[in-house]
Amino acid sequence: MPATPSIRPVRSEDAAALADLLNAIIAAGGTTALEEPFSPELLDEVFLTGPEVLCCFVAEDATGLLLGFQTLIRVPHLPADVGDIGTFARIGTVQRGIGSALFAATKARAAELGLREINAIIRADNTGGLTFYGKQGFVDHSVKPEVPLADGTPVDRINKRYVLPRSAAEVK
Ligand SMILES: CC(C)(COP(=O)(O)OP(=O)(O)OC[C@H]1O[C@@H](n2cnc3c(N)ncnc32)[C@H](O)[C@@H]1OP(=O)(O)O)[C@@H](O)C(=O)NCCC(=O)NCCS
Repeated sequence: MPATPSIRPVRSEDAAALADLLNAIIAAGGTTALEEPFSPELLDEVFLTGPEVLCCFVAEDATGLLLGFQTLIRVPHLPADVGDIGTFARIGTVQRGIGSALFAATKARAAELGLREINAIIRADNTGGLTFYGKQGFVDHSVKPEVPLADGTPVDRINKRYVLPRSAAEVK
């Protein structure tokens, strides 16, 4: 059993390594709804430390290798007290507890920030993502049907929601 990764808030200096990690997931295809690669600068702005980022944590191993990240952002189509989440574990190290360890930090911070719910938008064909968020306690909220991929293939987008406890003290 691998050691539990350490979790810490992201820093702008992580952007290059995290862009590599995310772009490998995008290039592999079939999971994330993201289809275009990110420059480190764009990733930092949109998902790491930019003005719409509510929080973002990284997981790293004992050598400092980044194993994954999880971001919570404000998006225009959601109420102000609902954050939108994205989770990415390094290819080759999935299903080893990285996403779960990140979510423990994210949900505690989201509760501190006074958020009511966390939304996850997941491609209907991303069975791993659907299972992962379900295991964290997310429940089905709504479906946006047949959103085309870049090549035109229609894929439903599943919205799952996690209801936060009323105060940080209730987070276990
Ligand atoms: C989805 C993702 C973030 C999960 O991260 P992870 O570190 O592998 O998740 P964990 O190891 O913490 O798994 C937590 C639980 O979900 C389950 N799970 C995670 N991925 C799974 C998969 N692909 N298939 C089946 N179950 C899966 C685990 O088995 C575990 O179950 P358990 O609690 O019964 O042991 C990771 O697979 C990933 O980066 N996928 C590509 C990007 C993506 O699709 N992100 C989600 C949309 S934003």
